[in-house]
Amino acid sequence: MIASEISFRRFRRLRRTEGMRRLVRETRLSVDELIYPLFITFGGGVHNEVPSMPGVFQLSIDQLPFEIEELRRLGIGSVLLFGLPETKDELASGAYDEHGIVQEAIRAIKAIDRELVVITDVCNCEYTSHGHCGILNGEEVDNDPTLDLLARTAVSHAAAGADIVAPSDMMDGRVAAMRHALDTAGFAQTPILSYAAKYASGFYGPFRDAADSTPAFGDRRSHQMDPANKREAYLEIQADLDEGADAIMVKPALAYLDVIAGARERFDVPIAAYNVSGEYAMVKAAALNGWIDEQRVVMESMTAIKRAGADLIITYHAKDVARWLQAESGVTAQSVGPA
Ligand code: PBG
Repeated sequence: MIASEISFRRFRRLRRTEGMRRLVRETRLSVDELIYPLFITFGGGVHNEVPSMPGVFQLSIDQLPFEIEELRRLGIGSVLLFGLPETKDELASGAYDEHGIVQEAIRAIKAIDRELVVITDVCNCEYTSHGHCGILNGEEVDNDPTLDLLARTAVSHAAAGADIVAPSDMMDGRVAAMRHALDTAGFAQTPILSYAAKYASGFYGPFRDAADSTPAFGDRRSHQMDPANKREAYLEIQADLDEGADAIMVKPALAYLDVIAGARERFDVPIAAYNVSGEYAMVKAAALNGWIDEQRVVMESMTAIKRAGADLIITYHAKDVARWLQAESGVTAQSVGPA
């Protein structure tokens, strides 16, 4: 037999049993690092499933007690809020209205569970009549006047009780503008998680149904990043950190694992990865067709995002992941506990 005469390394020794595989596993998932996005809409009694995102719902504020209770049971400790306002206008007034949809949702959540970490997405696209991320000058989003709106929005979220504000607009200078406005308004303790490396991605399609934020014309390529660029992502991240960001994000996640990995090597702040709507929709569609094993594929994807270097994962799969982690630790506890 040839194997007895040659020399090679036996990697399979440590892979033989689940116990050994658990022991030498390099990457572990925890419910602590999951952030669950919520779409809050106006009206009452609304619990609308988003057609392109099975299992994801637009919720009115009166539905929040049930939602928060479910998250608590699952051990999910953070949410990311998006709002669907009743009316939209050219100046995105609903974004920074003291009684806007997100501001009211923050107060409602904090009244139910003070401990839940409430992160708010700060952007204008859900609030403008044209669906663009800021004030238009012709067909272009005008950077500098838009900064004022973003800063006002961030302050109004902080005033309503948001724990973290997360700018997703990709205007230049937004982190500096928000930091200044927050500090001036007495919110020096409110952290900024910036969507620093956010790409102009086709993977946001289903989100725009969920958040009703499809631009009426054109796209977002004049401010979101070109998918072909990686070095530029590090410049964006460095700029946001210089402007005062406390944590940064790479978005989308799975098609940009190299960017996450590169950011991990370069920056020592918490890195979030956004496993976006299109990534979710693809997995759900294939799973519902019976073409893939949903649990395996989702857990493998989450592990990959962490292995690449992300600390936090924003994902619509969060509830399922939490359930599977609970089931796994239940099995583990049983199998190692007394018979
Ligand atoms: C902007 C925003 C978007 C997403 C998060 N914040 C949409 C966009 O940039 O067009 C996308 C999230 C997803 O696809 O899950 N408010």
